Amino acid sequence: MKIIIGCDHGGYELKEKILPRLKALNHEIEDIGTHSTESVDYPTYAVQVARAVADGRAERGILVCGSGIGMCIAANRTPGVRAVQISEPFAARMSRRHNDSNILCLGGRFLGLDMAMEILETWLNEPFEGGRHQKRVQMIEASSHPQGGETT
Ligand code: RB5
Repeated sequence: MKIIIGCDHGGYELKEKILPRLKALNHEIEDIGTHSTESVDYPTYAVQVARAVADGRAERGILVCGSGIGMCIAANRTPGVRAVQISEPFAARMSRRHNDSNILCLGGRFLGLDMAMEILETWLNEPFEGGRHQKRVQMIEASSHPQGGETT
């Protein structure tokens, strides 16, 4: 699948470690940086990844910062994005099954490589259940339209 990935300085080291593993899983990867541990502003990367996923240029996005939290807050401002900050595989699984999450935010200062890969592989492989959850996801999307939209 086509995956776009971005990070800030706090996520750089983890991103560099997961990139070869993702490529080995035969995913097509677009890496938008950052490309060093020099301090940068995480919203720059969050917004680029969010727009690429919302536009359909990439099927999924991965964002890595120190905690995963700032990236998640920033990415979720883009309509169509359902970004989740995840620290263990069960939440990764549920965020796919029930919420159709399309951007995964990881904390480079929270996670070791093995845990990050367990989360990532779970998240990449788990399907959305649809059904009653489809309506709920549609309600979220409707709420971001300027006129409001159907929320009940
Ligand atoms: C940068 O120090 C840090 O604030 C950032 O990587 C992230 O954790 C923000 O939520």
